Amino acid sequence: MSTTPIRTAVIPAAGLGTRILPFTKAVPKEMLPIGDMPVIEHTVRELVASGITDIIIVVSGRKDLVQQHFRPDEDLLLQLTTAGKDELAAAVRAVVDLNARISWVYQDGPYGNGTPIVNAASRFGDEPVMVLWPDDVFVSKVPRAQQLVDAYAITGAPVLALMPMNPADAPRYGVPIVKEDQGGGRLLVSGLVEKPKVEDAPSAYAAIGGYVITPPIIAELERQTHRWHEHRNGEVYLTDAINAYAATSPVFGQVLEGTWWDTGSRLDYLKAQIAAAFAHREFGPELRRFAFDLGAHADPEATI
Ligand code: G1P
Repeated sequence: MSTTPIRTAVIPAAGLGTRILPFTKAVPKEMLPIGDMPVIEHTVRELVASGITDIIIVVSGRKDLVQQHFRPDEDLLLQLTTAGKDELAAAVRAVVDLNARISWVYQDGPYGNGTPIVNAASRFGDEPVMVLWPDDVFVSKVPRAQQLVDAYAITGAPVLALMPMNPADAPRYGVPIVKEDQGGGRLLVSGLVEKPKVEDAPSAYAAIGGYVITPPIIAELERQTHRWHEHRNGEVYLTDAINAYAATSPVFGQVLEGTWWDTGSRLDYLKAQIAAAFAHREFGPELRRFAFDLGAHADPEATI
């Protein structure tokens, strides 16, 4: 099938990060470090590596640090180069020279997770877009975003990123209703049940905050924004729009290859830090030895 290429991504980064307070009282959750970079830079780099050239980041107040991170800083570069710290200057430049255009949309509050997409919609045309939450860390041979691009090239229809989940985690995620397994990890789905009780989960997969959405789903989000503006404070959820669309048209899930941590959960955030440390290009082998040693001699009474 020949499909319109995906060149735009929206990253909703307007949320308060309440699940990991008090970390996020002063530092936006998108700026928490994983390995050598803030978690949102992993997301941005993943998009760039998957051929996305336009990245729209939707922010609210309290997110200045996110903008500052990606903004050119000539003053800092001058100080570093004058001090002969060329390697550090190159590292600072690399955050800005990304082979993609980053633009910003400001919204005046957190709202539901569909609202940032509606607010970004005037920046792109009648085309499919990728939506990625900025608080997931995904480690894989083929980037998560590329796996979604590849799935869309086959289906030409909306695609949800899925991962097998521990059934006990169902109440934390959107869980897809699977209609048909088409092979290659591709599932035809008839919708998502948002945060079901363990016994009500319709499958053993979690939607992990990666989506290819198409113009009819944007239109549905806009419809819901107008309809609910008065009595739901403008809150619109992507799952509702996907479900409305899936009632009449095909929607697919792609079970991704890789390992995933949801850094919006405190435990997963710590696990992601350990995993990133072990996978670190320079220090990984040393850190694995260190952790092995630490585990062998850890004092079970000691806590932090
Ligand atoms: C959102 C989605 C949910 C998905 C989750 C992944 O929920 O609504 O379907 O499983 O992201 O992180 P939230 O975490 O925003 O409550």
